[in-house]
Amino acid sequence: MNWLVTGGAGFIGSNFVFRLLARHPEDRVVVLDALTYAGSLETLASALQDPRFRFVKGDIADRDTVEALFAGEDFDAVVNFAAESHVDRSISDPGLFLRTNVIGTQVLMDACRAAGTKRFHQVSTDEVYGDLPLDRPDLLFTEETPLHASSPYSASKASADLLVLAYHRTYGFPATITRCSNNYGPWHFPEKMIPLMIVRALADRPLPVYGRGENVRDWLYVEDHCAAIELVARKGRPGEVYNVGGHNERTNLQVVKTVLQELGKPESLISFVKDRPGHDMRYAIDPAKISAELGWTPETAFDDGIRRTVRWYLEHRTWWERILSGEYAKYDAKMYGGRG
Ligand code: NAD
Ligand code: DAU
Repeated sequence: MNWLVTGGAGFIGSNFVFRLLARHPEDRVVVLDALTYAGSLETLASALQDPRFRFVKGDIADRDTVEALFAGEDFDAVVNFAAESHVDRSISDPGLFLRTNVIGTQVLMDACRAAGTKRFHQVSTDEVYGDLPLDRPDLLFTEETPLHASSPYSASKASADLLVLAYHRTYGFPATITRCSNNYGPWHFPEKMIPLMIVRALADRPLPVYGRGENVRDWLYVEDHCAAIELVARKGRPGEVYNVGGHNERTNLQVVKTVLQELGKPESLISFVKDRPGHDMRYAIDPAKISAELGWTPETAFDDGIRRTVRWYLEHRTWWERILSGEYAKYDAKMYGGRG
């Protein structure tokens, strides 16, 4: 198969590329990525050595760039990871999220339609459903849960999902969608909670926990998410949405304490800070559909996944130290300035 993976220089996209190259010697992979602050060619260094891999720098919302790429390639499947992905950044700059996450998705779908591409897969998120209350552990997000986005980020992802489903209904466009819970693992940009806490704890800096740390996220190891995406992109039914999650709910405070324990650092590093505006309380996914229809089940237990993740950050200091010392330093100062 000839795959186009957009956003392949970011966290989940790069893990997906590594999976395809390692497991499918007959497949070829092209990455289209704008290399924003969140993407890096250093992440793709091992793939760049592989003759079955091609990297193209470009913006998915730029029609000329996307059309030129499609003119020279014949893709069997397009998997769209490219996005502005950080909720906090969407609160300060929503416009960029609409351009990349909504218009970018439309531009890609138009190119696929013109080329007759057989499969378009949209990597979406559980955040499109809004949040669940803390006192109703029986409630989970199913594919039937109404869309109820809270942040500009999740609203942009929900908009893209609606557009994908509208293209399917109106044009018979062969698209699938996965909506996954919070991922963690290697190559995760250190603005996101788990890697942020790891790199700060390693430097004995305060760990900024929003509010009281009681918000709940449903954590999934990134490789389990990539397995689900591949399965749906190859075998999912066009026009269908599949929720992806591993029943791994934890409060933020529990996660931060686990990270501290793994690193042998004291809980006194925890610092409760001002809450995120509109902060979603709880996410929890019901993955019954993807399990029953496609046989997907997660393989990595949370304790094991966190141990592997912490070890990865210990062994890849150059990767994240370069990020911390670059443009990101300005964001860190603005976001957490005065809080260590
Ligand atoms: P990320 O921020 O780590 O990576 C995004 C990548 O997209 C980067 O390489 C960036 O350079 C690229 N990009 C951004 N704008 C672009 C543009 N206009 N054109 C081309 N490339 C562009 O994100 P991630 O955490 O890997 O998330 C990937 C996808 O998965 C996103 O669509 C996100 O909504 C979704 N998702 C993420 C999670 C999670 O926990 N991280 C969970 C569920 C779904
Ligand atoms: O659920 C899937 C989503 O998970 C993806 O769609 C998003 O792209 C991804 O970024 C993630 O969104 P969250 O907002 O849940 O992730 P984040 O790592 O930003 O925050 C996780 C939780 O930790 C959240 O409740 C906010 C809290 N938090 C976050 C940061 C950055 C803190 O307490 N302190 C922090 O400094």
